Formats: sequence, structure tokens, C-alpha cells
Amino acid sequence: MRIELSDIRLSFASGIDVLDDLSYSADFQALAVIGPSGGGKSTLLRVVAGLIRPSAGSFRLDGTPVEWSGRGLQAYQRTIGFVFQSRGLFPHLTAIENITLPLIHVFGQSREQAEDTAHHYLRRFSLENDGHKYPVELSGGQQQRIAIARAVAVRPRLLLLDEPTSALDPELTAEVLDMIAELKADGLHLILVTHEMGFAHRSCDQVLFLADGRAVESGPADRLFAHPETPELKAFLDKILEWSV
Ligand SMILES: Nc1ncnc2c1ncn2[C@@H]1O[C@H](COP(=O)(O)OP(=O)(O)O)[C@@H](O)[C@H]1O
Ligand SMILES: [Mg+2]
Repeated sequence: MRIELSDIRLSFASGIDVLDDLSYSADFQALAVIGPSGGGKSTLLRVVAGLIRPSAGSFRLDGTPVEWSGRGLQAYQRTIGFVFQSRGLFPHLTAIENITLPLIHVFGQSREQAEDTAHHYLRRFSLENDGHKYPVELSGGQQQRIAIARAVAVRPRLLLLDEPTSALDPELTAEVLDMIAELKADGLHLILVTHEMGFAHRSCDQVLFLADGRAVESGPADRLFAHPETPELKAFLDKILEWSV
């Protein structure tokens, strides 16, 4: 899949440019977005999801510009799956109801069809025993895996994940990263905002380093981690990897 962002600018009411003439293009299957907090990573994902319109610039996916209004926008948004850092599930619905709700109400499936789809994905990710549970009855890792199952059950052309493991303990982080790696192996295209540098390095083919709303450095994961070129990325990696084993 090809993503092309050209001179994307986005300012909130404060007047500061959260995305500051950001330009980036790449062919990718799994793209990791890394960078310091406040750098604009979540905002960029929301632009790619069609949830916020940039003040200036253009954005294309596989060569097609995104329409920013009307049915075109709605149709585009439905092709994108989104997983948030945490608390993404509806607490008053069981895991299976969380998965079927968008299938029924947004994608027009019958309840029966939606339940079949949900069971398929629960089985696919060894979650079949958790379908009837409410989010409070699930571990943080199970909740995130249900949230990911919900996002992929609508068969998105692109899955966006915004720090999906940052609220989890290490062993729960591993089970969520395993699931993301499996989805990648299935051929799903994804963009992942993460602080898990090992995963970005080994399981993502492209990496974008975003700081102060700009694409400071980008390239194939192997190159970027082995030979960072900009002082900003070098400093970021030194800091984040300081205590790694
Ligand atoms: N809705 C908003 N209104 C005003 N400022 C915002 C809003 N969302 C994000 N920001 C600001 O934009 C900057 C980038 O935020 P964000 O995209 O969340 O960065 P990151 O995900 O890299 O930590 C931050 O300074 C944040 O305070
Ligand atoms: Mg963020």
C-alpha cells in the first residue's frame, strides 16, 4: 500500500501547528510511527483515519486523494480500522456484542451474520472463551485483543493502532504484539504508533520518526534503527534504548 502525505498542516485553536508541513510517502505493509510525546503521532493517525481534516496539504492512499466531505468521506472512514491505547471497548457490552455492534449498525449485517463473523474472529485469535465476558472481566491484554478483533472484523483495507500496548504489563504487551504480527502475516496493512522499538524494528517494514509535527526521518526499519541519520532520531533512540537489555 502506498501512502502520500504532502505538506500537511494542522493547527488547533491554540494556533500552534501540531502537524507542520508534514510530507512523507512510502510503500509499506506495516508502518511504525515513533517519536517523542506531543510530536503529533495521534493527530497524524486521526488524519489518516479521515477523522480530522488538515488545514492544508493533501493525503492519498494508493494514489486516490481522500475526499473530506459527504458520502465519499463516510465511505473512506469505513475502510479504516482504528484501535486506541486503552478503554476502547464499550463497558456495558460483552466482548461479542462489542464486535457485532459496528457490523450491524454501520455495516448493515444481520445479527446472525454479525455473530458468525464475531465467532470466526474470536476463534481465529483463541478468544472464543471470552466472547460472553464484559470488559471488566477481561485482562488488559484480552481487552486489547478484542478491540483489535473488532477493528479487523469489518475487513478494513488499513488498520491503525495508536499505542495499543502502552497501558499493558510486559507479558500482556507480548500477547497483543503477537496478534499484530499474525495480522501482518495474514497480509493486513497497518500503521502502528508504538514505543516498542523491538517490534517496530523486527516486525514493521517501514518506520516514520515524527517530532514537532514534522517527518524528521523515515525509511526501511533495518536502516533506520541501524543507521539513524538525523541528530533528533539518534538522540531519541539513545534515550529510549538507554536501559534496554
Ligand atoms: N484536540 C486538540 N486540541 C488542541 N490541541 C491538541 C488536540 N489534540 C492534540 N493537541 C496537541 O497537539 C500536540 C500533538 O499531540 P498528539 O498528536 O497527541 O501527539 P503524540 O500522539 O505524538 O503524543 C500536543 O501538543 C497536543 O497537546
Ligand atoms: Mg499519542
